[in-house]
Amino acid sequence: MSIRILAICGSSRRESLNQKLLAMAVQGARDAGAIVTFARLADFDLPIYDGDVEAARGLPDGASTLQALVDAHDALLIATPEYNGGYTALLKNAIDWISRPRSDGSGGIALLAGKVAALVSASPGQLGGLRSQTAMRAVLDKVGMLVIPQAFALSVAHEAFDAEGQMKDHRAAMAVMSVGEALYRTASRLATREVRSVEP
Ligand SMILES: Cc1cc2nc3c(=O)[nH]c(=O)nc-3n(C[C@H](O)[C@H](O)[C@H](O)COP(=O)(O)O)c2cc1C
Repeated sequence: MSIRILAICGSSRRESLNQKLLAMAVQGARDAGAIVTFARLADFDLPIYDGDVEAARGLPDGASTLQALVDAHDALLIATPEYNGGYTALLKNAIDWISRPRSDGSGGIALLAGKVAALVSASPGQLGGLRSQTAMRAVLDKVGMLVIPQAFALSVAHEAFDAEGQMKDHRAAMAVMSVGEALYRTASRLATREVRSVEP
């Protein structure tokens, strides 16, 4: 059974350290057998969530597209950068839109609930964005996602990558790749159980 993972980064900056780290975790998931899609949040039409805008115009196209992407995937692999001790507005805004009722009236939260997620983060600081992970874990918990314990926080991240975007520290690279692999394995086990539970 193929497992599809949606990879999302809370920074769309060209030289984003979190995107580089996410790419390593994605490599781990792909090596394990996952089919991975990147969703670059800046490419989606996602205004800052406003209930009046939603009431007047419905979901923006970007929100509907993101919802469809989440629907089509088994798991989320998320890089969550740290701004002032928390997650970025870009990432939280995307989750807020995804959680809204879909254009066909079905629930947005139902797209997320019961799916597996894994978190990684990178920061030039000493904690590597760990506080952002803690805050994001609480958000994903609230919408019913199952966040696996395997995670990776890369400290002093501005010194961690070479010119090709590869991590200089081989052991750290293996550790972040293992997060992608663990996400794949957990999603596979859940998918297998779901199939078994609907068999007569
Ligand atoms: C508004 C703002 C607040 C920040 N606050 C923190 C912080 O609380 N902790 C931290 O480790 N880094 C903080 N940083 C540094 C970011 O971790 C750093 O800019 C990082 O490279 C952002 O992720 P990116 O490289 O993926 O874009 C902050 C950066 C900005 C712009």
